[in-house]
Amino acid sequence: MTTPDSIKYAHTPSATDNVWGVGLKDAKRQSKCTARLDVAQSVTGLILGIFLFCHMGFTGSVNFGKDLFANLIATSGGVWLDGADHAWMHVLFVGFIFLCVIIHMFCALRRFPTSYKKLHDLHSHVKLVHHEDTTLWYVQLITAFALFFLVFPHLMTMLTNPHGFDPNLIGVHTYHNGLLYTFIFLVCTELHGMIGLYRLAVKWDIFAKNPDSKIMDQRAATDRTGLRKGMLVVALLMIVGGSITMWTNYSIGADQVAKNAEAERYVVPAEANWYAPAK
Ligand code: HEM
Repeated sequence: MTTPDSIKYAHTPSATDNVWGVGLKDAKRQSKCTARLDVAQSVTGLILGIFLFCHMGFTGSVNFGKDLFANLIATSGGVWLDGADHAWMHVLFVGFIFLCVIIHMFCALRRFPTSYKKLHDLHSHVKLVHHEDTTLWYVQLITAFALFFLVFPHLMTMLTNPHGFDPNLIGVHTYHNGLLYTFIFLVCTELHGMIGLYRLAVKWDIFAKNPDSKIMDQRAATDRTGLRKGMLVVALLMIVGGSITMWTNYSIGADQVAKNAEAERYVVPAEANWYAPAK
C-alpha cells in the first residue's frame, strides 16, 4: 500500500527546519565521504585564505623598494643558511600551496552545476531567494571558475622556474601579462578568498544562532551583517593594495623592457643586503 498524499505531504519543512536539519537524525545514513570532502575543502580554503594575507605582504614589499622585496625572496630561498639561494625551498613552498589548491579544487568540483539546465536553475534560485549569502555563494562559484584558469599558470611558472624569483624578472613578467589580465586575476582572487573566509565562519557556526527565530531573518542587523560588510571592505582594501603592487611591478617591467634588459636580475647593493652586509 502506498502512503496517501495527505500523510506524505502533511508537513512542508520551513527554511528554519531545513537549515537546522530537522528530521535528519531519522534519515537513512549517507556515506561519510561527502562530510570528509567538506572538511578538507574548508581546511585547505582556510590555509589559502590566510595565505592570501601573507602573499599580499610578500608581493607588496616591492612598493617599499626592490631591496626589501629581494631580501624577502632571499629569506624564503634560505640564503641565511649558507649564503646561497636554494631553488628547492621555493619549490617546496609553492608546491605546498599548489597541493592545497588542487585538494581544494577537487573537493569543490562536486558543487559545480553539471549541465546548462542546472546552471539555469541555480541562477533562477539565486534571483528568487534574493539573500545576500546566497548571492555571495554565486560569486564564489563564478570566481572559482575563473580562478581555475588563472591560478595554474601562475603557480606552474613559479614551480618550474624557481630562479624567476627576482624583482626585475617578476616586473617583466607582470608587464608581459598586462594590467587587465592581472587585475581580473586580482579581483577574482580577493573576492573568492575573502568571501570564502566569511562563509567558513558562517558554516562552522561562529555565530550563536537562535533556532526559535526564523533563519531567513539572520540577514537583519546582526553580528553576521557586520562581518559580511567587514569582509567586503577587507576584500576592497586587498584589491586596492594589490593594484598598487601590480602597478609597481608593471612599471619595473616597463623600465626593464625600455632599457632592453628583460633578463637582467636585480643586484642588492651591499649596504642593503641582509645576508652580505658591507664590510
Ligand atoms: C607560494 C605560492 C605563491 C607565490 C610564491 C606567489 C608569488 C607572487 C608574485 C611574486 C607575484 C607578483 C607578480 C607576478 O609574478 O605575477 C604574484 C602576484 C599575484 N598572485 Fe601570487 N603567488 C603564489 C600563490 C598565489 C595564489 C594561490 C593565488 C590565488 C589564489 C595568487 C594570486 C596572485 C595574484 C592575483 C597576483 C597579482 C596581483 C598583484 O600583482 O598584486 N598567488 N604572486
